[in-house]
Amino acid sequence: MPPSRDPSELRSHRWFGPDDVRSFGHRSRLKAMGFDDVDYKDRPVVAILNTWSELNTCHSHFRNRAEEVRRGILQSGGFPVEIPVMSLGEMLMKPTTMLYRNLLAMEVEEVLRCHPIDAAVLMGGCDKTVPALLMGAISADIPSIFLPAGPMLIARWKDVTLGSGSDVWKYWDERMAGNLCDLDWKGIENCIGRSAGTCMTMGTASTMACVTEAMGFSLPGAANVPAVVAEHSRLAVRSGRRAVEMAWEQVKPSTFMNAKSIDNGLMTSFAIGGSTNAIVHLIAIAGRLGIELSLDRFDELSRTTPVLADIRPGGRFLMEDFYNAGGLSAMLARMTDLIHTDCKTVNGVTLGEQIEGAVVIDDEVIRQRDNPVAEAGGTCLLRGNLAPSGCVIKSLAADPKLLTHRGPAIVFDDYPAMKERINDPDLDVTADSVLILRSAGPLGAPGFPEWGMLPIPKKLLQQGVRDMVRLSDARMSGTSYGTCVLHIAPESAAGGPLALVRDGDEIEINVPERTIHWHVSDEEIERRRAVAPQPKPIPDRGYAQLYARHVTQADKGCDFDFLSGRSPGAEPSIH
Ligand code: FES
Repeated sequence: MPPSRDPSELRSHRWFGPDDVRSFGHRSRLKAMGFDDVDYKDRPVVAILNTWSELNTCHSHFRNRAEEVRRGILQSGGFPVEIPVMSLGEMLMKPTTMLYRNLLAMEVEEVLRCHPIDAAVLMGGCDKTVPALLMGAISADIPSIFLPAGPMLIARWKDVTLGSGSDVWKYWDERMAGNLCDLDWKGIENCIGRSAGTCMTMGTASTMACVTEAMGFSLPGAANVPAVVAEHSRLAVRSGRRAVEMAWEQVKPSTFMNAKSIDNGLMTSFAIGGSTNAIVHLIAIAGRLGIELSLDRFDELSRTTPVLADIRPGGRFLMEDFYNAGGLSAMLARMTDLIHTDCKTVNGVTLGEQIEGAVVIDDEVIRQRDNPVAEAGGTCLLRGNLAPSGCVIKSLAADPKLLTHRGPAIVFDDYPAMKERINDPDLDVTADSVLILRSAGPLGAPGFPEWGMLPIPKKLLQQGVRDMVRLSDARMSGTSYGTCVLHIAPESAAGGPLALVRDGDEIEINVPERTIHWHVSDEEIERRRAVAPQPKPIPDRGYAQLYARHVTQADKGCDFDFLSGRSPGAEPSIH
């Protein structure tokens, strides 16, 4: 059946349509802003939710893009309204944007619900903006399409290609080892951020952009278009046009998002060698749909999904190369036997129809199925007595020799303690040691920061060591790398066993077997538990208190416990 074009069926009609005193007020105040009846009457109201901010370094092009989205909305007969929402800029926001992901999600849900909005274009990109926008839109269940910021252009310094984040850590290690002078370090600082846009490695931003497209939430090809090329402007216009159609067709998240689309997101994150952060976000996104995504499902799909995209930090190339090689659609076209091609998308077609005919242009960047970057298991779930509710490791970005390892622990109680001791020449550390950071999880830090790639001690860097086993209840940036076991749950601040580990305890990881083991007897663990310090008190005010009372652990997605599950979608009363 063709979509209804009856304006009285639009959600916004409840605000503007009736002949009553309230609607009179709504209409008269639009007129006070310079709009006439012809601007909005019988047209879908399409919100442009813009996460622009002068302190969000990755969204600096969003003012222009919002105008381009507006052009598309007007072209299709909609009434565009731009609404600024909280901007989570990864670089400058402390202690971590993850502390605020749920706050933005709540804001998005309520902004969509309380206004006369028929559809929305969600503008995000920098890491946590993506899951937050999706979580809010899913809970509000209003037709929404995601417009990713796009990655920045490839950076070059001298004759070297630089990748966001990854090369910062790499060259910082060289500087600490005494191999890089101040001038060169400054040169890298000047070059590594070449344009507007998100990190151009396969960090969390690009991972989530790919996952979002694979789940059907954005136009085909959207995930990889570099932020500053003309095609990105055209993508913005097209997204605006499509949002108007979605309002008429009532393409709500509940009509195309389900357990199979979440599976598609997970498989995509594995095939692109994506960020470990995607796991936490996907659990939270699934939770908003009322789907309990267990770590076992994650493990199952991780074991069967090959890594096809050869992108840093797990591979060799950058996002612009991925785009030029055919991008996400071309990669998914090589996985049609694995993904659910019958899932619906915002585009009004199935994912299978959307990727039909997409071809890979460069087999080095997007590998053939018989020549993958890794057969499977680019990211692995580990379980054991140190992580009863699981933990993860991006094995693709680790030294293969360290994937089975046993060594003595060196424990840092929190991040300041780690910073103070890590480069102490008297630290009793060797390349075989296992560095452990605790108080770095959702409650402990708080906010679950990206501290999981603990620095290699300077004295080991000077000996040529570039990787060692590191464990924490923290996350790690998607641009980071190394043998880092992350998201240990329950975290130390929630009474997890990590709180009880001491210097010298033997820790063993066996990634092929998917295990982590702390070689301490159960009796000794109980003895230590009896004398363990009390957890930190809950903050006494504001958002910090709300967060501490309600955030869930990593294996549950770190959403607030009162936000998971399908929203009843209650419409506000208009009086
Ligand atoms: Fe914004 Fe990496 S800092 S995407």
